[in-house]
Parts: sequence; C-alpha cells; structure tokens
Amino acid sequence: MTEPADFGMEPFRIKAVEAIPLTTRRERRDALEKAGYNLFNLPSDAVTIDLLTDSGTSAMSDVQWAGLMLGDESYAGSRNYYRFEEAVRGIFGYEHVIPTHQGRVAENLLFSRVVGPGDTIPNNSHFDTTRANIENNGGRAVDCVIERAYDPADPHPFKGNMDLDRLRETIEEAGPDNVPFCMLTITNNSGGGQPVSLANARAVAGLLEGYGIPLLFDACRFAENAWFVREREQGQEGRDLGEIAREMFGLGDGCTMSAKKDGLVNIGGFLALNDDEWAERVTRLLVLVEGFPTYGGLAGRDLEAIARGLEEVLEPAYLRYRVGQVASLAEGLRDAGVPILEPPGGHAIYLDAAGFLPHVPPEEFPAQALACELYLEGGVRGVEIGSLMFAAPDSETGEVRHPRLELVRLALPRRVYTDAHLRYVVAACRRVLERREEIGGMEIVDTAPVLRHFTATLRPLPA
Ligand code: F0G
Repeated sequence: MTEPADFGMEPFRIKAVEAIPLTTRRERRDALEKAGYNLFNLPSDAVTIDLLTDSGTSAMSDVQWAGLMLGDESYAGSRNYYRFEEAVRGIFGYEHVIPTHQGRVAENLLFSRVVGPGDTIPNNSHFDTTRANIENNGGRAVDCVIERAYDPADPHPFKGNMDLDRLRETIEEAGPDNVPFCMLTITNNSGGGQPVSLANARAVAGLLEGYGIPLLFDACRFAENAWFVREREQGQEGRDLGEIAREMFGLGDGCTMSAKKDGLVNIGGFLALNDDEWAERVTRLLVLVEGFPTYGGLAGRDLEAIARGLEEVLEPAYLRYRVGQVASLAEGLRDAGVPILEPPGGHAIYLDAAGFLPHVPPEEFPAQALACELYLEGGVRGVEIGSLMFAAPDSETGEVRHPRLELVRLALPRRVYTDAHLRYVVAACRRVLERREEIGGMEIVDTAPVLRHFTATLRPLPA
C-alpha cells in the first residue's frame, strides 16, 4: 500500500504563500559587514532561508487563524483564557496556569520570586535565557547532562538525559536547602535538541523527592520529546503521545513554556505550577509587569491560537513529518560530508563547527565564523551556539572558560520550509566545506555584559 509517511509527505497543503528574499553575494557581503558579523543584526529581508530559530516562526494552521477571529478581548475573564487553561491542564496537568507573552517571562517571574543569592539550580542544560534569569537573581545555574551528550558523534538515543550522579553531587555540594528547584529541559536545546527519556525523568523525580526538591520542566519542545520517547524508548512504542506527555509532566511540580515552539504560535508562553504559594507570589508580580491573570501579556486571540496549537502539535502525522524533516536534512548533510551533532535533534541540526573548521581555535569563535560563511554562501541564517554565546570568565579564577561544543544551529521553523529549501541549504553547506581552509576565525569588536551574542559586533581574522 502507498503510505504518505513512507515519503515523509507533509500532512498539510499550502493555503497562503510568502515570497522569500533572493540576494546577490555582494548584497550579502555588504549586509554582513553592516551587521557587524552578527547575524542577529541582519534585516530579515537580507535572509533567503531563515534557520535562526524555530521560535515564533511557525506557520499557523487554518484552524488557528480561524481561532483568531474568535478572540474575546475582554480585560478580565476572556473566554479564550478558559479554553487555553483547559488545553494546558489537559496536557500538563498542573493546577495554576499563568499566561505570559513568552517563555523567558515565565522564567523571570518565577525565578525573581524563588531564586536568590547562594541558590543553585541544576538542569540537564540551561538554555541561555534560563541561565541568565537565574544568574540575574544571584543564583548559580549548573548543567548536569550525561557525559555522552558532549561527544558529537555519540548516537545515544536520549542525549538530553540527566546524569544522576552529577545531579546528586551538585545538590550535596550546594546543600539541598539551597536548591529551590531542579529543571529538566525537554528537549534539551543547548545540548542539541536531544530528548529525555521517561525512565530518566522518573529517576530524576525520584532522586529529588528524597531531598524534597521540586522538579520543573522547561517544556518548550515537549511534543517533539514525546515523539522521541514513543520512537526510541523501550515499552513506549505506539503509545498515545498525549499520554506520554501527561506521564512526563505528572512526574514534576510545574513547568515554564515558550508556546513559540511546540505551541505552534508566533507569540506566547506560560508558567504552570502546583504550588499555591508560589503561584500567588508569581501572580502578584504578573499583574505588576505583564498583565491581568487571564491574559498575561497576550491578546485573547493569541490564547485561542495557543489552545488550538497545543492540540495540533501532538498529532502523530504532524510529529512524524516534523522530526522526519529534521532527520532528512541531517541525512543530506551527512552525505555531503558535513560534520553534524549526532543524532539529529527534534527541531534543529547542529553543525559541529570544531570539526568543520579544526584550524580555528575556540578563542576565535569557529562557530560564529562558520555561521557567517553560510550566510555569505547562500543567504542561510543559522545561529552560533558556542564560545560567543557561552564562553565566560570563571567566577573564581577569572580565566575564560569555553563551552565543550562549538555548534551552529540550523533550526527548522515548523511547517514553513519544503524539502527543496532544505536541499538548497545542504548545497550551501557543501560549498562552504569545500573552501574551509580559506576561512579564518573572528574577534569581538564590541560586546555587552549579558547575553552578548545578541548584540556583539565582530570582525573576521585572516585564515
Ligand atoms: N527555554 C528553552 C529551552 C528555549 O529554547 C527558549 C527559547 C526559552 C526557554 C525562552 O523562550 O524565547 O519564548 O522567551 N529559545 C529560542 C531559541 C529563542 O531560538 O532556541 P522565549
């Protein structure tokens, strides 16, 4: 029988199209110089294929667009809020559902209430805004992902898993009273979009229970994580994806969520918590800085779109297509000899810049150099996840510590690009690979003290 899934066929057809910018190499060179060799500074009109992020870049479905027309923009008690609350509770199961306009606000609201100087927050790998929001409140953000996550070639099926010994050591060293909560990021974005198994989450929850430490999920890509559990974890094959997600979240006490990922919307997020006291403290601050508790910085129509997105994102046909598209990009890159982080993640491919440009040392930002070359070659915009994002002076010795991986992330917006777009991306990567010896590193011209990768300007160094 002919099965659509065997062809990686998109489970949708296209109802509206958006023209993409086509540029010349000269225009790209000028744009890059003007942007200070920081791809965040590029106008999107200069970008042909934008793989900067999968966040807020999804194409909404006709059902979601129709939902926008049902927006109830009442200041208090919007009916869309109740739909949203029901959709969130149905999957995540937590008592209090606090809408925010994006994920980092959920982090900021909670962390500013419950994290203080001297506190330690373990995670498999903190995302940059998570780390920054913890550190901004005087806390210490510690990554406890399994050692195998740091080997780009290791095909471990659950490379997002927490290392339980490392977690225990981190808690013992800090003292359990100084660990207000522990996080688990599903999938683990900073570690390559890698999933966490149900078994690992269960073990983490068990360990934390012994210490009385709450577990919070960073749930941005929970549906992609559920898909990997179903595909890769023993005993989970063919299980309902909503059930997998519910079991996962049932192990914890709450979550932060950027709906800009697996909510399939362009803006939105939430914080969901079981603890009444935490929820009350956060809600008081929410009213001060974000909005009334039934809209939290969003329009009623946005809440409706999220409620509908959360239903669509767990459809097996969608997730098969989604994760399959990422896997087929990986396959194309492998065939072209491009070194990538294995196995491919749920939302992105990570080019191994250290393997791609072995002659460029970490101090010269090999991943940033590669990201710039890829833009020059084909107008393809990825993002550096390496020393520009993460290298920082050690708080005790002052010596600069570099991250263990130098990566360029090519994140795939959901339901946006076709296979022909991705073949073009592979061709651009291949061309850059062919002339890699001519590519030098970079140096920073100007930088900010926090989250510097967003605004720093750089210049290329000779090869
Ligand atoms: N946590 C994770 C794991 C994330 O990937 C992100 C955002 C956030 C929290 C913050 O959410 O952007 O809605 O405030 N990641 C985007 C990215 C920006 O490109 O990976 P936000």
